[in-house]
Amino acid sequence: MDPVLNIGADGLEIRWPDSTVGKFPYIWLRDTDPSGFHPQTGERAFDLTSVPLDITPERAELDPGALLITWPGAGHPSRFDLDWIKANRPGQPRLDPADIAAIAWKADLGAEGIPRAPADEVMRSDAALAHWLGQTRAYGLSIVEGLADSTEAGMDVARRVGHLRETNFGLTFEVVNKPDPNNLAYTSDALPLHTDLTNQELPPGYQFLHCLANEAEGGGSVFCDGVAVAEDLRARDPQAFDLLTTVSVPFRFHDAETDIRARKTVIALDVRGNVSEICFNAHLADIVDLDPDLMMPFYRAYRGFMGMLRDPAYAVSLKLGSGEMVVFDNRRVLHGREAFNPATGYRHLHGCYVDRGEWDSRIRVLARKAA
Ligand code: OGA
Ligand code: ZN
Repeated sequence: MDPVLNIGADGLEIRWPDSTVGKFPYIWLRDTDPSGFHPQTGERAFDLTSVPLDITPERAELDPGALLITWPGAGHPSRFDLDWIKANRPGQPRLDPADIAAIAWKADLGAEGIPRAPADEVMRSDAALAHWLGQTRAYGLSIVEGLADSTEAGMDVARRVGHLRETNFGLTFEVVNKPDPNNLAYTSDALPLHTDLTNQELPPGYQFLHCLANEAEGGGSVFCDGVAVAEDLRARDPQAFDLLTTVSVPFRFHDAETDIRARKTVIALDVRGNVSEICFNAHLADIVDLDPDLMMPFYRAYRGFMGMLRDPAYAVSLKLGSGEMVVFDNRRVLHGREAFNPATGYRHLHGCYVDRGEWDSRIRVLARKAA
């Protein structure tokens, strides 16, 4: 059976034999005409203002496998592949290989449940890279193992994904106990669960921490899935959840060279209402400047969330060994570390970031090759 075309006043309707119905407004059809895209770059070259908003076609008809539309004044008809136009019908999210649902996790994931990937495979094989990217996207956390004992080794893996995200701490950073630290990470103090650089306009996406040495007493790592905690908060205390998704908190980092500030909600939602981002760093929270009447409800929500983050029910703990690199979505998974005693041994992590957009782009390009 062939699809059926109905020509309406404002648009076309196509009914497919599998009972899929697509509604195609004329202005959308004109704007989406495949010939309006640059043949090499694929960018839209069509100028929307060159046609009236209420444009209607002179003719519309089905050709085997295609929809043909003749527009007034246009030299040639628009030709849409029917399978393409079905898959891309308005109202449907566009197919996206990087749209991988988050798998929320809690303490029962355990350190042994964290997805692992051998560095040499990720470096050598596109299939291994794609698998690791997808798993890390789903869990927000993975460990790459078997890295060479060089600061380049972790960066090489990161560069296999995309461009590194440079910040005021550099293109990469050394997490070691430093004599004159500008960041608590560069001390031997404990770091409670946090996300990095909440003071940035766009906090970095994926964080890579390559362990070169972890010989001191202490220095264990802890991770917590912010999506799991936030979803539990939504169920347990919707009022607190609402406040944390709407009240923007000021964050600030400053040292001799910089004074970087941004306002962020602690929890952000995507267009579907799912938790898409956590921005939580008690050390970078600036002076809270909310309306006095909002203070008590805000602090109740914020402190409640902070308390939940410390609940061992959400924590996965491990001690990184040299040659391991933990990779996590810094805008979802919170990380922390135990204090360590620098007198008992050396601890050195080498870090860098790759933003979410780079990550997802690599997933899509690899899916294109695999198809
Ligand atoms: C950091 C950090 C964790 C660690 O550098 O942002 O949180 O294990 N480090 O030292
Ligand atoms: Zn950190």
